[in-house]
Amino acid sequence: MTIMSFWFPIEEVSEGNARILVPKLIQKNNEPIDHLRSRAAVFYNPNMRLNRDTAVLSLQYLKNKISKPIKICEPMCGSGVRGVRLALEAKAENIVMGDLNPSAVNLAVENINRNNVREKIRVRLMDANLLMNIHSNPMNRFDYIDVDPYGSPTPFLDSAIRSIKDEGLIALTATDMAPLCGVSPLACLRKYGGKPLKVSYSHEVALRLIIGASVKSAAIHEMSARPVLSYYIDHYGRVNLSMKYGAKNADSTISELGYIVHCQKCLHREIMKGPYLKISRKCNVCGNKMMVGGPMWLGELSDSCFLEEIQKHYSNSNIYCDPRLARLLHSLKEEVNAPITFYNIDEICSKINQSSTSLEKFIEKIKDSGFEAVRTHFNERGIKTNANILELENILKV
Ligand SMILES: C[S@@+](CC[C@H](N)C(=O)[O-])C[C@H]1O[C@@H](n2cnc3c(N)ncnc32)[C@H](O)[C@@H]1O
Ligand SMILES: [Zn+2]
Repeated sequence: MTIMSFWFPIEEVSEGNARILVPKLIQKNNEPIDHLRSRAAVFYNPNMRLNRDTAVLSLQYLKNKISKPIKICEPMCGSGVRGVRLALEAKAENIVMGDLNPSAVNLAVENINRNNVREKIRVRLMDANLLMNIHSNPMNRFDYIDVDPYGSPTPFLDSAIRSIKDEGLIALTATDMAPLCGVSPLACLRKYGGKPLKVSYSHEVALRLIIGASVKSAAIHEMSARPVLSYYIDHYGRVNLSMKYGAKNADSTISELGYIVHCQKCLHREIMKGPYLKISRKCNVCGNKMMVGGPMWLGELSDSCFLEEIQKHYSNSNIYCDPRLARLLHSLKEEVNAPITFYNIDEICSKINQSSTSLEKFIEKIKDSGFEAVRTHFNERGIKTNANILELENILKV
């Protein structure tokens, strides 16, 4: 096979069932690998493998559900690894990929040829919004769109919604965790239309803000966006949204938006669904002024049937997934129906001047006291429970 020549050094790597060419990073003067990667001629991050694993599994789920040929769009494809894996592992047959970077498009074409999937994938040198919008005609829409940008996915949200079919799936990756977790609240308000919370469960709030923004954008087009798989890992957030046409569907998701009100002094929090904030801003527990986050999504973050299905695909398939994925999926399943927000056990212990304790033992004690309690994937020391802060403190003191 003739290998196209590139103006930058390349190397071959494998991921899943694909063998692809990626820029070879040459480290000088101990420059951090992340810097090198961000300056590479084409973007490829091996640490995002788990993200792509979940794309493969989600697509397998969708293919089974729809049971007719489906159309896929990956408008920011970089090296093309994701699309190639979708073709090889989820047996996708009609994929449109795009990128603004000519080197990325050339490399993606080479990777498609090397993996013998050229019948299944087309690549365009084009802006992502433009690529999605030229497919917004009802006859040309996609069943699955995977938006994987640098930073926030929201500048591409409207185009993705315009070009998704009824019952299709939109997957969004967000790497702008600083705004979403409250380091720059104004940037969060600009991008997501909601206020973040700089609290121990800020990563959960981040996912809820991404979903909240998606629900609002979808509602403009009389569509609903319902999360079926959401997770935070390795400093990014990922949500998979099941899209449905219809004003009533849109209304039902809009009714699940609202606010989290949090007391920084005693850690008490309250949840308030609805578009307007009616709650008193004074903490019921300690009287302190509470801070407000939102509007954001206050419904479920994942769907248990969806998780069960992709768990089955995961155990039956021969794809080589990130070893952490089994645990992540298990954890996400446990969290379905769990209360909104979570408590960090170390934060509570330090608040009541008590030395830290084992998470498992604390969960048992909470359950023995008649409350629900589960671990959360967001934080190794986090617990989702319906006990309130005073009840948790009392349980810890026993
Ligand atoms: C995070 S990388 C994508 C990685 C790829 N999806 C993967 O799984 O490896 C983001 C890509 O988006 C491209 N990009 C940035 N802005 C774009 C735009 N407006 N339209 C199309 N591509 C864009 C960049 O050139 C880069 O290749
Ligand atoms: Zn308080």
